[in-house]
Amino acid sequence: MTPAEMARIHAAAFPNRRVWGVDEFAGLIQDTRVTLAHRPHGFALARTVVGEAEVLTVAVDPTHQGQGIGAAVMAALLAQTPAQTAFLEVADNNLAAIALYQRCGFATVGHRRAYYTELDGTQRDALVMRLNLSTDDPASLPKA
Ligand SMILES: CC(C)(COP(=O)(O)OP(=O)(O)OC[C@H]1O[C@@H](n2cnc3c(N)ncnc32)[C@H](O)[C@@H]1OP(=O)(O)O)[C@@H](O)C(=O)NCCC(=O)NCCS
Repeated sequence: MTPAEMARIHAAAFPNRRVWGVDEFAGLIQDTRVTLAHRPHGFALARTVVGEAEVLTVAVDPTHQGQGIGAAVMAALLAQTPAQTAFLEVADNNLAAIALYQRCGFATVGHRRAYYTELDGTQRDALVMRLNLSTDDPASLPKA
């Protein structure tokens, strides 16, 4: 998937957020710490530092949401990421994403007040979610 396609999908999926530019995506996928998983119409990015992966973003084209693409890219991302644990922040009103992450095994471990500022200035709290990727219990890991 090209940086331009990622930027297009991301802007469509996050209409209330700052746009991530094509150059930003190009820089991320050149970063050796960054893992990209993609399917037609959707992608996910994570950056791993000392065994801990931060899920940077997950986005599915709004015209193709609800078809299993988000679940597929998250499962692929978590399978590819060279990390023992993964964490992410998600707006506390983003029920679709929270449900997706819970389905992947993430659990809420914290809150961040006013973490996101939408384009209209509205501030949103974030949940911090974490997943243990160690293979102690492989049955608990999502299937790619
Ligand atoms: C969140 C997002 C990535 C989900 O992708 P998707 O392809 O629509 O999701 P899927 O069809 O694979 O569904 C996977 C799971 O997500 C959850 N889910 C997806 N859409 C949902 C909705 N509208 N309401 C509640 N749960 C939802 C469900 O748990 C679902 O599993 P199920 O079908 O077994 O119930 C997508 O909605 C999106 O791009 N949203 C905008 C960007 C965003 O919010 N990204 C995450 C920011 S942290």
